[in-house]
Amino acid sequence: MPTTIEIIQGDITTLAVDAIVNAANNTLLGGGGVDGAIHRAAGPQLLQECAGLGGCETGDAKITGGYMLPATHVIHTVGPVWHGGGQGEPELLNSAYRRCFEVAHRHGLKSIAFPAISAGVYGYPMREAAVIALETAQTVIGLYPELERIIFVQFNAGAQQVYKEAAARLGIA
Ligand code: AR6
Repeated sequence: MPTTIEIIQGDITTLAVDAIVNAANNTLLGGGGVDGAIHRAAGPQLLQECAGLGGCETGDAKITGGYMLPATHVIHTVGPVWHGGGQGEPELLNSAYRRCFEVAHRHGLKSIAFPAISAGVYGYPMREAAVIALETAQTVIGLYPELERIIFVQFNAGAQQVYKEAAARLGIA
């Protein structure tokens, strides 16, 4: 089955997929934004499992169960804080997406949903972040044949529009 890339608007915590990605921080001990929403929806057992992971480097990813979420797993990644773009932010954001796909592949997952990593509190400009997200997805198509669905979830209509425009420019969807 060919891999599809979908761009949707909504709340990532409601998706029944093999894994949703959490835009976490280095401690993996929760926070605001999508991280807070995921922990609230998954329940306290998620925090318990995260506490045993020893944190996560920026640009890396670690997997846990989904607990009370409809998703089976959560892949926690840490994107870079935006400091103007000259401090390795694009490479680190690319690495965060790539590592999520690698972890998903190691677990044989078929569907994965991403929020706009780093594009909230961490300040990464949405347009640039969307291009990196979509380009990284394009590179894994064909590499991981078991992967059926890659879903990019935006919380609001403006962000969704930015993703759709970036996808059109890249010749996706
Ligand atoms: N579903 C989908 N997208 C969401 C949801 C949701 N339920 N909630 C927020 N977003 P952010 P970051 C969008 O700030 O920039 C946390 O405190 C949001 O509109 O959650 O990587 C962590 O602990 C934005 O477009 O993540 C870290 O300290 C995108 O998700 C820090 O924030 C990412 O925004 C990470 O910051």
